[in-house]
Amino acid sequence: MFSNRITQLFKIDYPIIQAGMIWASGWRLASAVSNAGGLGLIGAGSMYPEVLREHIQKCKAATAKPFGVNIPLLYKDIDKHIQIVIDEGVKIVFTSAGNPKTWTPLFKQNGLTVVHVVSSSRFALKAQEAGCDAVVAEGFEAGGHNGREETTTMVLIPAVSEAVSIPVLAAGGIGTGRQMLAAMVLGAEGVQMGSRFVASEEASSHLNFKQAVINAAEGDTFLSLKKLTPVRLIKNKFFQEVQKAEARGAGEDELKELLGRARAKKGMYEGDLEEGELEVGQVSALIHEILPAGRIVENVWQEFLTCLNNPLK
Ligand SMILES: Cc1cc2nc3c(=O)[nH]c(=O)nc-3n(C[C@H](O)[C@H](O)[C@H](O)COP(=O)(O)O)c2cc1C
Repeated sequence: MFSNRITQLFKIDYPIIQAGMIWASGWRLASAVSNAGGLGLIGAGSMYPEVLREHIQKCKAATAKPFGVNIPLLYKDIDKHIQIVIDEGVKIVFTSAGNPKTWTPLFKQNGLTVVHVVSSSRFALKAQEAGCDAVVAEGFEAGGHNGREETTTMVLIPAVSEAVSIPVLAAGGIGTGRQMLAAMVLGAEGVQMGSRFVASEEASSHLNFKQAVINAAEGDTFLSLKKLTPVRLIKNKFFQEVQKAEARGAGEDELKELLGRARAKKGMYEGDLEEGELEVGQVSALIHEILPAGRIVENVWQEFLTCLNNPLK
């Protein structure tokens, strides 16, 4: 049995985390990943508070294994989300997009394991100081919201691993066991994968979006909306509109209006590949099929072990 600080922290078999993702990671995906020996996360970011409660309850019924909830700290219902997570007895929370100092003490007082997502060593140190148990270091390649500084996973993982003493999970551009091994050689003790799990049977994303992910090639995504909150998107019609608006100097308000939360839902949940926002990472170029989430965990782990035995082959 493989064991390291990450498998011990979460009480899981493999140090493979399925990222919390708006419009993709509900209870079905999270429980499938946890049942396969990884750690599944429910993505609270696109859920109204009572919807989140329902997903947590369904996840508890669908798996006896540990699972967690991802809470982006920038949404307006944040305190309601947090109360529900605590009331429902969730044991693990992954926070992102905000200051870890604000909420980590409350989670810790309630006995939760807290992980914060960062894009630099500086933020990783802040998360460690705030009392987080681990960090996700998310590089430039990643799908979804991202850091402004464009530090790639290849550089970020060794830098963050050197900066902090708490365990580091690598994210951004990882979809295979070989890449997982590479991330762990760089200093990570596990991986968080998002895009790979969008193209899973259990993801709640629209089939059109899943197909767009498996059809995407190198160069088909771009880190956009840097004026607002940078996000890696597939280069579709909506993306072109955003680029044009930014090029002519559109302000924050105009960009906000163009974006709106409804665009993300339109693209990723309703499957409108032209007018919707499609968040996905560079690793989409390496993803060629939609698989059951449990098979993804197995495949990644088996490839990791094969490569570990003969890394240079
Ligand atoms: C469709 C999609 C939605 C995402 N939504 C969130 C989110 O709600 N909260 C969050 O912390 N990160 C979110 N992310 C980022 C992921 O949690 C993860 O860190 C990232 O996908 C890792 O990079 P990868 O896509 O290369 O695997 C999202 C990513 C994708 C692809």
